[in-house]
Amino acid sequence: MKYQSQAVAKLYFIAAMGLFVGQILFGTILGLQYVIGDFLFPEIPFNIARMVHTNLLIIWLLFGFMGAAYYMVPEEAERELHSPLLAKITFWVFLAASVLTILGYLGLDYSKLAELTGNKYFPTMGREFLEQPTITKIGIVVVILAFLYNIGLTILSGRKTAINLILLTGLVGLAVFFLFSFYNPDNIAKDKYFWWFVVHLWVEGVWELILGALLAFVLIKTTGVDREVIEKWLYIIVAMALITGLIGTGHHFYWIGAPEYWLWWGSIFSALEPIPFFMMTLFAFNMVNKRRLDHPNKAAVLWALGTSVMAFLGAGVWGFLHTLAPINYYTHGTQITAAHGHMAFYGAYVMVVLSIISYSVPIMNGYKAKSNKGQVIEMWSFWLMTVSMVFITLFLTGAGILQVYLQRYSDAPLPFMVVQDKIVIFYWLREMAGIFFLIGLILFVISFFVKPDEAEKITA
Ligand code: HEM
Ligand code: HEM
Ligand SMILES: [Fe+2]
Repeated sequence: MKYQSQAVAKLYFIAAMGLFVGQILFGTILGLQYVIGDFLFPEIPFNIARMVHTNLLIIWLLFGFMGAAYYMVPEEAERELHSPLLAKITFWVFLAASVLTILGYLGLDYSKLAELTGNKYFPTMGREFLEQPTITKIGIVVVILAFLYNIGLTILSGRKTAINLILLTGLVGLAVFFLFSFYNPDNIAKDKYFWWFVVHLWVEGVWELILGALLAFVLIKTTGVDREVIEKWLYIIVAMALITGLIGTGHHFYWIGAPEYWLWWGSIFSALEPIPFFMMTLFAFNMVNKRRLDHPNKAAVLWALGTSVMAFLGAGVWGFLHTLAPINYYTHGTQITAAHGHMAFYGAYVMVVLSIISYSVPIMNGYKAKSNKGQVIEMWSFWLMTVSMVFITLFLTGAGILQVYLQRYSDAPLPFMVVQDKIVIFYWLREMAGIFFLIGLILFVISFFVKPDEAEKITA
């Protein structure tokens, strides 16, 4: 570790991992409820478990992004963090708000939670991914502002690298677009617009900047390739992400009562969205091929390469599959959507956070890399999680194709629940893949507790 204050990242990464385990536990509960409808009812109904699963995902990714920023920014800026104390305070505030909110979901009726938190005075609750009570949302804004202030000052008063500036732009964008979650129009079509201004413009807009910056950082550190080369790639990737992703939002406006021209704008621009993801794949493999040093942390390189491939598959290929209006007409809101949602979130954002954790945590512990044994366990976790996610995606895609055919395409379309019963085998298989995913995740955590190899100790 070059700067002492980078160590604050570790807190964030520990919280991220804890919440990730929670997310996947709830994923396996959900998967079981798909096949055994009454499982854990009425204690944990499906709608609540789903909300916990998706909210935990978003929260732990935010912990991951913040931890990544606290680790990377000082090193890139070549100075200590502006205020390590503030970073610690915001950590505890964010953790307390997150845990209380999740406990609120689990312990109270959602309507009761809304009443207790004064939702009627300032209604923002009830939309997928953005179910948090208004006071939690305000808490998130305060935390993000303090965080941006902290890393912003560090960046602006230090060495300004492309990685830091792109990271900062992405994080500011994340904060700005979150503000749309406070606007909750009564008109359902308008409501959808603003909901997508958060959800789509995050994952297919500003988060791609964060993704690019994190990936570039891990690649620079593990390959020793010149900054100039990496920065050129980054600029083009970022430009392509914004050019395609902003207007690409139109692929969510097909069926919500928006003007018809969105069928064209949405289809054309979102069809180009795979380009920046494909460039990230080329970028990562190019850098590793041109590497000037053999970094002892092979697992981190594997995660970085894996991110670039899986993000392209999940977002690029599985996104393209259903993004053209004439196809989306049939696939909208089916298991095809869920297949894509899982692989894209995992491939892009989960994996990039695991990459930076894999690279930085051993260093924060005083070692260049884990011991050989630690890395072998970690690589097992990589393959278990990644292959399980490929299977989850394939099973859901199978379910989705049949669902579309039986429910929406055949000459004698069947009702929703009748179709669900016919495709239950896919849901059993998905659940099995989910259990393997959970095992992979536990191995990832375990790999950090394996005794380090003293030869890798950082001495300088
Ligand atoms: C890492 C980036 C991405 C992530 C994390 C992501 C995630 C998601 C999620 C979770 C949904 C479901 C939203 C909901 O209705 O609840 C969704 C929907 C959708 N995504 Fe993505 N996505 C990404 C990139 C892309 C790309 C690049 C494309 C196009 C090439 C795309 C095309 C779509 C389409 C068309 C839908 C709507 C599906 C429907 O009509 O039901 N996505 N995405
Ligand atoms: C890192 C891994 C995972 C990520 C990133 C993830 C992400 C997501 C997302 C974004 C959604 C909302 C999807 C949508 O609206 O289209 C979702 C829903 C869901 N997830 Fe996951 N998930 C993960 C792991 C799992 C696992 C391991 C299981 C189960 C075995 C699982 C089961 C489910 C189920 C059953 C739903 C509800 C789908 C529905 O409403 O029909 N997830 N997950
Ligand atoms: Fe989108």
